[in-house]
Amino acid sequence: MTSTAKPSTRIPVSGPWITDLEVSYVTDAVTNAWYSQANVWHDRFEKAFAAHLGVPFVTSLPSCTSGLHLALASLGIGPGDEVIVPECTWIATAAPVSYVGATPIFADIDPVTWCLSASSVDARLSSRTRAIIPVDLYGGMPDYGALQTLAEEHRIALIEDAAEAIGAEYHGRRAGAFGRAGVFSFHGSKTLTTGEGGLLATSDEELFRRILYLRDHGREPGDRFFRNTAVAFKYKMSALQAALGTAQLERVQALIERKRQIFQWYRERLSHLPEVNLNAEPPGTRNGFWMITAVWDRSLGLDKTTLQLELDAAGIDSRPFFHPLSSLPAYANHPDRQYAASRNPVAYDIASRGLNLPSALNLTENQVDRVCSVLTGLLRRRS
Ligand SMILES: Cc1ncc(COP(=O)(O)O)c(C=O)c1O
Repeated sequence: MTSTAKPSTRIPVSGPWITDLEVSYVTDAVTNAWYSQANVWHDRFEKAFAAHLGVPFVTSLPSCTSGLHLALASLGIGPGDEVIVPECTWIATAAPVSYVGATPIFADIDPVTWCLSASSVDARLSSRTRAIIPVDLYGGMPDYGALQTLAEEHRIALIEDAAEAIGAEYHGRRAGAFGRAGVFSFHGSKTLTTGEGGLLATSDEELFRRILYLRDHGREPGDRFFRNTAVAFKYKMSALQAALGTAQLERVQALIERKRQIFQWYRERLSHLPEVNLNAEPPGTRNGFWMITAVWDRSLGLDKTTLQLELDAAGIDSRPFFHPLSSLPAYANHPDRQYAASRNPVAYDIASRGLNLPSALNLTENQVDRVCSVLTGLLRRRS
């Protein structure tokens, strides 16, 4: 048995790969993970994930957003502080900066990796900068060598947003292991899913203790007397989610290979279009290919909304390349709003001409054929 999702003639943009293993582990959790067994699946999932990542301390969470919030709060970041984030990312990278009362500062992305540019971070540093949050965008890796050097030189924290990065590596090290803390998302669209869910990993034991304390309403782990010593947060994954995650993690190599296979199908079929660039894999890195993403030449004069609607009419779901955060109504009152487009030209340019193509784990080669022939037709009409 595999996923029970109803077949549809529409080609979805994302979705998981669920097998009997996941069903049996979740069934066990709903049957047995109560009373003294309530945390058995969390322990199993966290141990397995720590081993997978090669990082000693991990905690499962209800989302990646909560992990970013906890990382910032546990580092004591708050009002008056600035945190540098990439212009192009899901808003969840930046929103937790506001949760703690600090200000997100938007820096440009690199034209090749589409991830946070170290030189742009350098230009945005100020005496108020307390942290930078690089994002492993769509499974691609930023230049962590340069970003870590900047963070060390300026004594600021690096928090890795590895929400999209299962399967990604930088010089042999798995994504999620590059900052004071690394955070993952296991949302249903992700390569490894728990339905909704997340995880925080760190090598810093002191920071980890503070995270465990803050995520349980200001209680030390193991506290049995329920006398809270701080007003904090409640961020816990359920045992059912941890069981699902354990099964997915046991199959993680197959999940990663499937993403690479899907990318390969696209690459073969789109290589005849020099006007299209797909996700980059610079030397020394492995891309996780969470979302196969096409960025086309400016010369085509084609905007992403037009192409998204044309694909939609052909029964193909896609998603826009992340809009520059500073351009969103959510940041209409951000102090940098008026300068952002000129300071972050690469983000504003690339974001206008990119789409995430169907990348679901149940995608077939025939479906990729269909997407590529429709896409080729639509682009050729313009060249
Ligand atoms: C880059 C990035 N950061 C953070 C998140 C937030 O993850 P979650 O939905 O698990 O909170 C996502 C989710 O898609 C993401 O893509």
